[in-house]
Amino acid sequence: MEQSRAIHVGIIMDGNGRWATRQGRSRSAGHRAGAAMVRRIVEAAPDLGVGVLTLYAFSADNWRRPRTEIGWLMRLFREYLRIETPRCAADGVRLDVIGRRDRISPALRQAIEDAQRATAGGTRLHLRIALDYSSRDAILRAAQCLRPETVPSRESFARLLAIVDHGAPAPEVDLLIRTGGERRLSDFLLWEAAYAELYFTPLMWPEFGPDELGRAVREFGSRERRFGGLTDAAAG
Ligand code: FPP
Repeated sequence: MEQSRAIHVGIIMDGNGRWATRQGRSRSAGHRAGAAMVRRIVEAAPDLGVGVLTLYAFSADNWRRPRTEIGWLMRLFREYLRIETPRCAADGVRLDVIGRRDRISPALRQAIEDAQRATAGGTRLHLRIALDYSSRDAILRAAQCLRPETVPSRESFARLLAIVDHGAPAPEVDLLIRTGGERRLSDFLLWEAAYAELYFTPLMWPEFGPDELGRAVREFGSRERRFGGLTDAAAG
C-alpha cells in the first residue's frame, strides 16, 4: 500500500562505532561514514515520501563519552552544517537543529543559527537534527512554560515542545527507525512518537542506505494504524 501523504520519519542513527571497529578502523572514521550516510538519506528522503526527517545525532547523555570522541562529533556537526547549509537552501530543505544550545560551543551555536536562517524557506523537506537532545528534558522545559492550572491541548503542547527546543513545529512522528540492532527509544521524541510505527534493523547506520529507507517506508505503508480505534471491517 502506498502512503498518500508525506510522512514524518525519526531515526536513531546507531552503530557507527561498531561498524568501524569491525573493519579495524577508528570510531571517528565510523562517525565520518555516518555523516556521509546522513547526506545520502537527506537527498533520498523527499522522493520516498518523507516530508519531515528527525535524526538523533547527539543525545544529552552522550556527554558521558570520552572527550576526544565528543570533540570529533562536534567538529563533524560544524563541518556538516558548513557544507550542507547552502545545499539545503538550494534543494528546498529546511534545516532545524533541536535540543539544548547552552552546552555547545559558540561557533557551533552560530553555525546552527546561520543554517536555520538560511534554510527557513525550504518546503521540500523539513530536516531536524537532534543535538544535545533529551525528550524528557524538553517535556519538563515545556511544562515549565505553562501557566499554573492550565491544561494545554495536545497540539499546543506539541508546538511548545518544538519551540523550547528552538525548532519549527512538526507533525507527530509516523515511523521511528533505529539502526544498530538495539530495540529501545533512548529518550528520543517520547511525546511526538506516541503512535509511531517502530522499525528496528540490525544494520549499522553507515550501512543503512536509501534502499533501506525505502524498505522501511514501504513496510510502514503496509501496516494498519488504528490509533486505538477499530478497523472498518471490525467496526462492521
Ligand atoms: C550512536 O552510537 C551514534 C552517535 C552518538 C552519533 C551519530 C552521529 C552521526 C550519525 C554522524 C554525524 C551526524 C550528522 C548529523 C552530521 P555510535 O554510532 O557511537 O555506535 P556504537 O553503538 O556502535 O558504538
